[in-house]
Amino acid sequence: MHIWKVAEVERCFRVKCFGYQIIMFWCAFVVFFLALGNELHLSHATEVSVNNTENKLCLYANLMVNFSVTYEVGVNKSETVLFVLPENVTTEGSICNNTTSTLKLGFGDGHSWAVEFTKDNKTYQVDSIVFTYNLNDSRVFTNSTSNETKSVTAKPRITNVGVDTYYSCKSENVQRVESVTQTLYDVTLQAFVTNGSKSDTDTVCTADLTSTTVAPTTTVTTTAAPTSTPTPTLPTPTTGNYSIAPDFNSTACLMATFGLRIGFKQGDKVETINLVPSATEVGGACGVNSSILILTSDTITIMFTFSNDSKKFHLHALNVTVKPATGVAVVAANTNMSIWVAAVGSSYMCNREQTLTVTETLTLYTFKLRVQPFGVEKGEFATAHECSLDDTSILIPVIVGVALAILILIVVIAYVIGRRKTYVGYQTL
Ligand SMILES: *[C@@H]1O[C@H](CO)[C@@H](O)[C@H](O)[C@H]1NC(C)=O
Ligand SMILES: *[C@@H]1O[C@H](CO)[C@@H](O)[C@H](O)[C@H]1NC(C)=O
Ligand SMILES: *[C@@H]1O[C@H](CO)[C@@H](O)[C@H](O)[C@H]1NC(C)=O
Ligand SMILES: *[C@@H]1O[C@H](CO)[C@@H](O)[C@H](O)[C@H]1NC(C)=O
Ligand SMILES: *[C@@H]1O[C@H](CO)[C@@H](O)[C@H](O)[C@H]1NC(C)=O
Ligand SMILES: *[C@@H]1O[C@H](CO)[C@@H](O)[C@H](O)[C@H]1NC(C)=O
Ligand SMILES: *[C@@H]1O[C@H](CO)[C@@H](O)[C@H](O)[C@H]1NC(C)=O
Ligand SMILES: *[C@@H]1O[C@H](CO)[C@@H](O)[C@H](O)[C@H]1NC(C)=O
Repeated sequence: MHIWKVAEVERCFRVKCFGYQIIMFWCAFVVFFLALGNELHLSHATEVSVNNTENKLCLYANLMVNFSVTYEVGVNKSETVLFVLPENVTTEGSICNNTTSTLKLGFGDGHSWAVEFTKDNKTYQVDSIVFTYNLNDSRVFTNSTSNETKSVTAKPRITNVGVDTYYSCKSENVQRVESVTQTLYDVTLQAFVTNGSKSDTDTVCTADLTSTTVAPTTTVTTTAAPTSTPTPTLPTPTTGNYSIAPDFNSTACLMATFGLRIGFKQGDKVETINLVPSATEVGGACGVNSSILILTSDTITIMFTFSNDSKKFHLHALNVTVKPATGVAVVAANTNMSIWVAAVGSSYMCNREQTLTVTETLTLYTFKLRVQPFGVEKGEFATAHECSLDDTSILIPVIVGVALAILILIVVIAYVIGRRKTYVGYQTL
């Protein structure tokens, strides 16, 4: 739709419109109506406000939900229908209490979508979303063999929303339960509204944060790590040598050596932990297009997925689980990375400490890294492609040198000017 619009506009301009104002006018009209149509199509956001018994605002929502429901239309035959949460909904059955609230949106012929909230001292959360659909509504569920009303309960991860803030999430949140898929997006949601007016501050969902901070190229940063610097008391992690062979008798097909530290959030605190190579099991597999390395210790499980895009390889995905001795387990995954890039048949090397931001709550630090996920021969690393920032060791002397040169130049100029002044001074005497 969008691409076609652009093409249309381009064609308008490419056609020599100078003499053909009418054509241009017509083009403009087409574009205008396409744009308008698009606009009308997209603006199906559902906005609702619920007031409490004192007639003050207590629940607010502005969101979009797409539904995909598969239902039976005959023996062994099913159909899938797609529809969106309409703009016009009822809020009958919504309830605001002190620590629990329900936002119930009714629509169509007996369908409803209900969000259950609970609150503790500082935060509130969504406990469940109950979607109820009436298969007897033949306009939506044509030829349905059943006329029942069904319900599915989804548990979206909408937690830790600060009291007196609204939850904001532009990213898609997909909930699959039985034969129903719900896609929530462009969500603004506030329960337990205080003082009868919607808050100005928001709690942004992790998906929105990571989609901006975990861009593949920004993953290699030395400063902007959200988990702050690791505790200095922790020693540099031991460098481990890990390799995978296709079978017992063969030499390695994947090799990696590095020291690994993980920083993860526990509440507001950041904790760090080192991977101990001697207490780590190695697993994984080599493939043509992708290879996997899995390291498992009693507290850490980490899976590296490398991709071979014919000429080059890169680290494509990371899935890390940390189960600390005390506190809650942290799981972090990023499946859209493109770091550690090197030619297939060579290895990637980075001696300095590298910081990889996996998610908002978990960061990896690698030390003395060298990996070759494809085409290892004779159990040895091939030539290395070094990470560019290792060059800082060269860059720093250069910068210092340039700074020194500038300083000397300033001193010389000052000296010359000074001499001239004194010279002039002597002359007038
Ligand atoms: C939701 O459905 C509408 C209409 O079918 C479609 O235009 C839109 O792309 C869908 N959005 C998502 C996130 O699936
Ligand atoms: C449904 O399909 C399966 C195989 O696709 C078949 O074995 C089964 O007998 C079918 N059931 C009915 C009730 O037709
Ligand atoms: C639902 O369908 C059953 C048969 O499948 C029928 O006996 C019943 O009357 C129907 N109920 C409604 C409310 O249409
Ligand atoms: C592995 O080596 C053993 C003995 O060295 C030999 O008997 C076996 O056939 C080999 N297996 C493969 C898959 O090459
Ligand atoms: C690897 O990728 C290429 C191109 O994308 C594809 O043709 C090939 O079938 C893939 N090989 C395997 C083993 O998946
Ligand atoms: C990498 O992928 C290409 C095709 O995409 C394949 O020809 C090549 O053999 C692969 N390299 C390795 C080492 O598996
Ligand atoms: C990461 O690993 C955990 C535990 O093995 C698993 O439940 C989860 O689905 C994985 N996530 C991704 C994106 O692969
Ligand atoms: C993955 O990253 C690429 C490049 O930044 C981006 O174009 C793409 O949309 C991303 N895909 C997902 C699923 O985030």
